[in-house]
Amino acid sequence: MPSVMQKEAQPLQHTTALGYMLSAAGWMVVGATLGFIGGTELIAPDLLGNIPWIVFGRIRAMHTNLVMFGFVVTMLIGAAHTIVPHLLRTPLHSEKVGIASLVVWNLSLLVGVVALSFGYTQSREYAELFWPADIGVVIAFLLMLYNFTRTLMNREEKLLYVSVWYFVGGLYLSAATYVIGNVMWVPWKGALHGMPDAVIHWFYGHNVLGLMMTPLAVGAAYYVIPRAAKAPLYSHTLSLIGFWSLLVMYTHIGTHHLLQAPAPTWLKLISIVDSIAMIIPVATVLVNLWMTAKGRVASLTQDIAARFVFVGTILYLIVCVQGPFQSLPVVQRITHFTNWVPAHAHLAVLGFVGMIAFGTFYFLLPGITGREIHSRGLAVLQYWLMLFGVSGMMVDLTIAGLVQGHAWFHGETVYRVLPSMYVYNVVRVMMGGLIVTGACVGIYNVVRSLLTRPQEVLS
Ligand code: HEM
Ligand code: HEM
Repeated sequence: MPSVMQKEAQPLQHTTALGYMLSAAGWMVVGATLGFIGGTELIAPDLLGNIPWIVFGRIRAMHTNLVMFGFVVTMLIGAAHTIVPHLLRTPLHSEKVGIASLVVWNLSLLVGVVALSFGYTQSREYAELFWPADIGVVIAFLLMLYNFTRTLMNREEKLLYVSVWYFVGGLYLSAATYVIGNVMWVPWKGALHGMPDAVIHWFYGHNVLGLMMTPLAVGAAYYVIPRAAKAPLYSHTLSLIGFWSLLVMYTHIGTHHLLQAPAPTWLKLISIVDSIAMIIPVATVLVNLWMTAKGRVASLTQDIAARFVFVGTILYLIVCVQGPFQSLPVVQRITHFTNWVPAHAHLAVLGFVGMIAFGTFYFLLPGITGREIHSRGLAVLQYWLMLFGVSGMMVDLTIAGLVQGHAWFHGETVYRVLPSMYVYNVVRVMMGGLIVTGACVGIYNVVRSLLTRPQEVLS
């Protein structure tokens, strides 16, 4: 198979990509710290004296928006700004447009999250940012899409390697579903009425995960793993089957968040069937990546950046075995509304997407800055802190969720189950502390790398 990876490529582009990835590393520290404060409030509600800006109801949305849109999505958009031009053997159409999108994107998040702390929220999960911030996000998306589309039109490389499909396709779909999901044509509340609103909301909510984060993360893994393994991609055909089947399946599964709600039964049925069918895109991606790395895993994981990414793909498998399972009504009868769901959410967003995002940053950093990573030891430490933290949190919250779900199922009242959650909430905060420390180690390592003298590093 002719591989784009084997051909000579243009030097990597810098400013926009670095700006996005650096700000993402910063948002990770802030976002994870907010999660830590929120988790602490669950074990000691009076500790912070009910400061209005950070009461749990507000800090939860600040946390989720910053870790999802600020950390993982921003990091991977940054990666796309260097990987796409590299694979197309064409410079990014305009660094200036890129920087404009970077500034508008980050300002919108900042304004939106500060507004959340003042209580300005549209109160729909992952669509909480108020309308002015939404407008900023959409402008940033349009600037990015303009830049990527012009780069595609100017491209030297005719064959579109699968990462380009995932990055650019994912961003087009994200922009479209952002407008729809935030009901931006109703600016004063950003919502419709009744069940149609719930259906459209979760169409969007799962698209944030499946058509924004997943394609960006998979696109990055498709770039890093063959390069780190120094092997051509196992199969171009499999990669395209994975891309198109992801588009077909993922767009239909949002209603699996509403199995306990009065959504139309036919919609629930489609969401369950397609949740199970997600096995197809997930398996094709993983078979393709792992067959590419076959026989080279030991050497690949010597590279700490590639190790982050490779482990991210393993966690993707676990998330996507758990996902179809918890889409079955018989399972959700126990797990829904319990800590089981945040267990899945952290493993997915931090374990799968976050590990791939940070690994890709480390992988690209020497090429785009001409500087080696300041300390491999610190990167290894960060890897273990994040991996141990997220796995521990996953196990802890899964057990907590099963305890809650079984008690409720057998008629126990919520307030009588609550005291037994204390110990699980303490463990969650301890695991969260590891993740926050990992985030701080990461940004320190990256900033120190940028402060060293540039060397000749091959891109
Ligand atoms: C960058 C790392 C992190 C990511 C990507 C992340 C992601 C998320 C996501 C997606 C949710 C929504 C879960 C749901 O609605 O089911 C969430 C909620 C939450 N996270 Fe994190 N998180 C991170 C770090 C942390 C840390 C360090 C803590 C510290 C304990 C933490 C504590 C919480 C809490 C308390 C909630 C609310 C759970 C609830 O409402 O029951 N997170 N996080
Ligand atoms: C085969 C793929 C997957 C399936 C079938 C699946 C299924 C589900 C289901 C059924 C829920 C709702 C559980 C409930 O409310 O009771 C859920 C929640 C969630 N999933 Fe997945 N999942 C999959 C993959 C992923 C991936 C790849 C991500 C992240 C990139 C992800 C992130 C989340 C998050 C953040 C939530 C919490 C949503 C909330 O706040 O309520 N999932 N998933």
